[in-house]
Amino acid sequence: MLLKNTSTRFGHISVLIHWLVALAVYGMFGLGLWMVTLSYYDTWYHRAPELHKSIGIFLFIVMAVRVIWRFISPPPKPLASYSLFTRISSILVHLTLYIVLFGILISGYLISTADGEAISVFGWFEIPATLTEQGIQADTAGVIHLYFAWIVVVISLLHGLAALKHHFIDRDITLKRMFGCNPDKK
Ligand code: HEM
Repeated sequence: MLLKNTSTRFGHISVLIHWLVALAVYGMFGLGLWMVTLSYYDTWYHRAPELHKSIGIFLFIVMAVRVIWRFISPPPKPLASYSLFTRISSILVHLTLYIVLFGILISGYLISTADGEAISVFGWFEIPATLTEQGIQADTAGVIHLYFAWIVVVISLLHGLAALKHHFIDRDITLKRMFGCNPDKK
């Protein structure tokens, strides 16, 4: 098992966090769109938002760990075959994904705590409210939350398509690397 990234490989911690976050992002997107359609009498009317908020707090923790881990264990070098366009666009896309994801998590927190209520995380612990600007806070954060959610889904799908293009057209190890494969092994 390779924990840290090397100059040619992603270690298993980065791989695990990458796929866990990807799964959580698509799951949370579906859950978020579904829960706002529920009627008051649905059994999931309260449960779905509680689940959405609890997972969101965990996702924030995982993303914070991810950023710290990126400093402790920097990602592998770009492949020599990458064009300048690929190098620059991948940096911009990865940076945008990080920023927009944090934007979603922070705006979600601001919507949930606008009324001054703490967020209960699976009933295990609470995250207290901080900013509680009644009225405008929940509305503004709500708009940012929804638009950023769509942006992250669209950008991550394009990013996934780029990874598939590397795998099937360029036939390089970009995608395999994100599954922890060793590029030096034939
Ligand atoms: C919500 C979904 C996703 C998010 C938020 C996301 C985010 C990211 C980020 C931030 C990185 C950069 C990692 C770093 O350098 O620290 C990355 C790398 C990568 N992602 Fe994703 N990703 C998502 C989905 C996918 C999907 C669906 C695929 C493939 C089908 C994929 C394939 C890859 C690959 C191959 C890399 C490594 C690129 C390289 O070696 O430079 N990702 N992803």
